Amino acid sequence: MMNISQRIKEVPYSAIRKLTPYAEKAKADGKKVYHLNIGAPDTKTPNEFFDAIRNTNLKTLDYAPSKGMKSLMEQTCKYYRDRGADFDPESEIIITTGASEALVFSIVAVSELGQKILTCNPFYSNYYTIFRQCGINPVTFDTTVETGYRLPNYETIRDSVTEDTAAILLSNPSNPTGAVYTEEELRRVVRVAKEKDLFIIADEVYREFIFDGKDFMSFAEIEGIEDRLILLDSVSKRFGACGARIGAILCKNKALMTEIIKLATGRLAVSTIDQIGAAELYNVDKSYFEEVNAEYQKRRDCIYEELKKIDGVKVYKPEGAFYIMPDLPIKDAEDFAMWMLTDFDDNGETVMIAPGDGFYHDSNVGKSQVRLAYVINRDDLKRAIEILGKGLEKYRQLTNQ
Ligand SMILES: Cc1ncc(COP(=O)(O)O)c(C=O)c1O
Repeated sequence: MMNISQRIKEVPYSAIRKLTPYAEKAKADGKKVYHLNIGAPDTKTPNEFFDAIRNTNLKTLDYAPSKGMKSLMEQTCKYYRDRGADFDPESEIIITTGASEALVFSIVAVSELGQKILTCNPFYSNYYTIFRQCGINPVTFDTTVETGYRLPNYETIRDSVTEDTAAILLSNPSNPTGAVYTEEELRRVVRVAKEKDLFIIADEVYREFIFDGKDFMSFAEIEGIEDRLILLDSVSKRFGACGARIGAILCKNKALMTEIIKLATGRLAVSTIDQIGAAELYNVDKSYFEEVNAEYQKRRDCIYEELKKIDGVKVYKPEGAFYIMPDLPIKDAEDFAMWMLTDFDDNGETVMIAPGDGFYHDSNVGKSQVRLAYVINRDDLKRAIEILGKGLEKYRQLTNQ
């Protein structure tokens, strides 16, 4: 009997996707829509990527090795070595189709069907899609806007671990909050992972986006967890190259890597062309990171200052990535987000925002929150938040909130 599986039906439509038709309609009606909902960087992909592809003299576009191309594995490991983490390019890295595939491989490799992965609320919404795809469920602990989404204390994290939890997964810097965890917070997680014997899946794809001159502390810098640490990597955000679809798994647990290679072999290879380009990305001058970082920090400052001006909005200063997750003085951010597209404009302009709800599991906290991505230029950003403020005022009047 033909049957559309229950597990696919359990994957929710992303809240952003639900809103897309309304954004399209608004645009068709002639409104200008500022997108604060998308987390794709707008910065230029370095020329190194395109030049490398232009300069290849490949005659046949063959499969690359399943583990990845040597040059890219070496370049990625060198990047980590320069940042205090030593991975052997021969055996401790596998190139994947974005961090997205690295996530799927890691989760399949460490969990049985029906098991759980611990993460914090709110979390990157695609984690949920991937969990369901892999036949597992999340279990979560909350972080709150009031603390700027710091991790809770050791006991809270420890007590969230269930009998059937296989791993702790954290995005650091965080999508969707922009929180960057301190060494002390990381050590709290490590303590729980060791005590409960869990893998740590560290999603550090935003590690180059750290503000205020602070240092980023990676899980890879913590000793004594070599066996349990699975580091996920990506060029998407680091080099503004989301379309390259290049990521990696870095891990010192040889037994685990031997198993993951089977998954890599099963999907044959990652795009040869993209690997050629990505390997060269690692030759960019250090100033590239500095310039990009400086720009995002200015945007962070801009969005934070503008949001602070809006009555009733709870806001904090994110330390990294390019997201902020304020709490709005309304009950239902999804309704508000839709209304902004369907019923509101300021001089023919409106904004598209991501309702917070979709970033939570088993919690109602996110209902009044929104995730804003500051991946548009500062003038547009300022204007977008002005529109958001005006919309919010009108919506609150209309709905008596
Ligand atoms: C926290 C986090 N992890 C992973 C990914 C997936 O990245 P990739 O493009 O490498 O698949 C994203 C993309 O937005 C992300 O925000």
